[in-house]
Amino acid sequence: MPKLTVQGVGEFDVRAGKRLVKALIEDAGTDQLHACGGQARCTTCRVKFVDGEPKNITEAEKETLKVREVKEPGVRLSCQIACDHDMTVELISRLEGSGRKDQGSPVADEIEPAPEWTTR
Ligand code: FES
Repeated sequence: MPKLTVQGVGEFDVRAGKRLVKALIEDAGTDQLHACGGQARCTTCRVKFVDGEPKNITEAEKETLKVREVKEPGVRLSCQIACDHDMTVELISRLEGSGRKDQGSPVADEIEPAPEWTTR
């Protein structure tokens, strides 16, 4: 099982292939935002990788990071990432302090839209 380390929160064993955003919510119990429900549209699910940033990226994530001008190294959309190896992330987009009323729309088990993988 891949290990997910969330800085300041803890370490969690995660089912291989689980969407990172779901692992952050369900396994780590964090208040990670996911306003668009994991559709690669909002960028509120972004996290900062400390270690284990995936080399692959979905076309949808790549396009959204470009359009929204998210350029900081290591910052990725957790809804577009599968937990298939050990990762360490920093939470940078939480409900607390956001002024939003909830974390976001429900997130499906599988990556949406249907992933087309490429490299960054
Ligand atoms: S981009 Fe909206 S939840 Fe990931």
